[in-house]
Amino acid sequence: MRYGYFADEQCEYVITTPNTPLPWINYLGCEDYFGIISNTAGGYSFYKDARLRRLTRYRYNNAPLDSGGRYIYLRDDDASTPQFWSPSWQPTRTPLEEYQCRHGLGYTTIQSTHAGVKASTRYFIPLGANLEIWQLSLTNQRPEAVNLSIFATVEFCLWDAMDDATNFQRNYSVGEVEVVDGVIYHKTEYRERRDHFAFFACSEKFTGFDTDREAFLGPYRGWDSPSGVEKGALSNSIAHGWQPIGAGHVRLSLQAGEHRSIIFLLGYHENPVNEKFDPPGSQTINKRTVLPIIQRFLQPAAVSSAYDDLQAHWNGLLKKQQVHTPDIHTDRMVNIWNISQLMAAFNFSRSASYFESGIGRGMGFRDSNQDLLGFVHLMPQHARSRILDLAATQLPSGGAYHQYQPLTKRGNNEVGSGFNDDPLWLVLAVAAYIQETGKWDILDEPVPYDNAPGTEESLYNHLQRSIQYTLDRIGPHGLPLIGRADWNDCLNLNCFSSSPGQSFQTTTNKDGKVAESVFIAGLFILAARSMVQIAGRRSGEQQAQIYRQAISQIEKTVWEAGWDGTWFRRAYDDFGEPVGSHTCTEGQIFIEPQGICIMAGLGIEDGKARQALDSVAERLATPHGIMLHQPGYSRYYLNLGEISTYPPGYKENGSVFCHTNPWIMISEAMLGNGAGAHDYYLRINPSRREEISEVHRCEPYVYAQMIAGREAPMFGEAKNSWLTGTSVWNYVAITQWILGIRPEFEGLRLDPCIPPEWDGFSVERSFRGCRLHIKVHNPQHVSRGVVEVKVDGAKIEGNLVKVDGSEEHQVEVWLGK
Ligand code: GLC
Ligand code: GLC
Repeated sequence: MRYGYFADEQCEYVITTPNTPLPWINYLGCEDYFGIISNTAGGYSFYKDARLRRLTRYRYNNAPLDSGGRYIYLRDDDASTPQFWSPSWQPTRTPLEEYQCRHGLGYTTIQSTHAGVKASTRYFIPLGANLEIWQLSLTNQRPEAVNLSIFATVEFCLWDAMDDATNFQRNYSVGEVEVVDGVIYHKTEYRERRDHFAFFACSEKFTGFDTDREAFLGPYRGWDSPSGVEKGALSNSIAHGWQPIGAGHVRLSLQAGEHRSIIFLLGYHENPVNEKFDPPGSQTINKRTVLPIIQRFLQPAAVSSAYDDLQAHWNGLLKKQQVHTPDIHTDRMVNIWNISQLMAAFNFSRSASYFESGIGRGMGFRDSNQDLLGFVHLMPQHARSRILDLAATQLPSGGAYHQYQPLTKRGNNEVGSGFNDDPLWLVLAVAAYIQETGKWDILDEPVPYDNAPGTEESLYNHLQRSIQYTLDRIGPHGLPLIGRADWNDCLNLNCFSSSPGQSFQTTTNKDGKVAESVFIAGLFILAARSMVQIAGRRSGEQQAQIYRQAISQIEKTVWEAGWDGTWFRRAYDDFGEPVGSHTCTEGQIFIEPQGICIMAGLGIEDGKARQALDSVAERLATPHGIMLHQPGYSRYYLNLGEISTYPPGYKENGSVFCHTNPWIMISEAMLGNGAGAHDYYLRINPSRREEISEVHRCEPYVYAQMIAGREAPMFGEAKNSWLTGTSVWNYVAITQWILGIRPEFEGLRLDPCIPPEWDGFSVERSFRGCRLHIKVHNPQHVSRGVVEVKVDGAKIEGNLVKVDGSEEHQVEVWLGK
């Protein structure tokens, strides 16, 4: 069952019922000011940091789930009994004659018709401004004139979203606003250390307003029936403490067929510290700095050109790589939606979604490094800055803070470090950056440790310490020690927690000298292979040789201690017993080491990789994707940690943890199985799953972190959509390994591994300043095997295209036997 459809030409997903199984959301904003918006206008906004600079309040886990947002109410002032409704359906949930939510790139438009009034609101955040625009268009479809009241509302958050949701003894007394010339200013804590405030403004004059929530809603009423809307008049209340809101009332008469547009602005503004107040010495906000911005964006012409600029920005991003294959689900995801999701992951890491509260995690070291792998071609300069920010939170040991706060860019002490895979992802991110851009100079950037001035070393030294970090932490079998956890945050082999509520990630009751990770061994080899090339170029053959030796050593150990006979083991626990072995009663085989070890090149020559992938196909693959491990843990294991806290089939306990599926796609492609790789790709591809939306339940346009596994009663149900490494890894798997357009240090490798029935495909791609038009022909219907490559009509040796400069090139590739 579907709840909407893809409008590919417009790069939109069109939702045709407000009553989706879960809120289906979109992200607004590209730079510093961001918003989340659901298909019923739910969501919230923030400046830079979803926790520390929250503009609007959102109550999590509410009933209904999605309550609170950018709500507009319409009221028929001619009706004898009060009639009002929400054109976005929520919060009044009045039945609408027509409803449509169009989620596009950087904007969302919600359109509906009720009682002969058509309303369409486009929400977006312009480039270069810290505000959001709600562009409301109203059309009177009645045969006679109508008198309408329009109420637009926001509930302000008192900036720190965590404090806002918990510290009521203080917060009920600190709220402050000003209302001047029809603009509502939210200025809580501006009197003391904050130099910022929020504003809510309208292109029409407000007939009335409210800034005190209880005055607007009325006692014992909710947002679904505000008494101010019911009465058709607001009380011009000024909030003193309690809950400051912005509610503005506009009256409008529309002739039959008449159409009108109204602009609402919600924004964030910072004043210079010494110009905060006007007049100086008063407690009144200096508005001289913000008024020109407000005035500008209340002009329809400025709004439409801001919208055009935003579209041009997105089109520029999409253009970086466009593919044309025989499969619509591939094209749609690669060309549109996967890009949108990559941008969200880049901007928010795992902080702010409908599953991530924005008050928990900041930017993850592991996560954000991985997010760059398929992102760098979109915004190489941004990727570079991100790499430098991440590297600056690295510790002198080579380890890293697991997370940092985006506002301060400082490592988060509460979570600390000790996730032993973390530093290796930095190596992969830097390698991806150089492979895409050819800019080796990033290695010379001076970067501090733990953000401490004076500790700067070259980024190259940081990478060396990353590699050394693993080598300094080798366990009894010669495998890397796992620390608090590796990629699998829930495989906590040193935790041994028996107290409810303890964090599995930060509690360690063991000294960490026994439990080892085969996954880190594979990741180490993968990263160190890049280091061989980086070191060879940067410090010469001798250093490269050192890394080669380290690789052989770890590789040897993997075969000795990490191979279980028909698949790779996962780890060794604190008792020195294997995890992910046929000798275990539960959790016999895990997906992660199969993927990462094969990606690192292990077992490809001697058939062991094939064996491991066959075991995956046999034991882990389902029609809904590949499960993390099998059998799921049926009880809590003190020695394994959080993984065994989830009921089997959910999350890290054997769900289809989508993040890892592309590793198997890549491995299959490395072994030449194009049909298998693409089949796995389609199993979790959200567009492909659109037709089972009633089962999948999350948005059909973005990947979810997990799909419930076979052992779960809700097998096939997705959760944790949007912010997941699934997004980047699927993009890498399909573009670089299945379509095979893969940046390497020396150029662009063209090595497709596709379903043999495909006749071919084409790709337009920017690469190191050039524009490539790549056409792949598959006349003999093979999966893999490049027999000829021509660049601008001239045959080249091999399949590595070396270009730079600014030209356009025609590239033709023939596959064959
Ligand atoms: C979450 C985390 C990620 C981790 C994964 C597996 O997605 O963000 O860092 O690797 O879970 O536990
Ligand atoms: C939980 C989740 C995991 C996530 C971690 C972050 O353990 O299961 O996916 O990575 O929290 O702290």
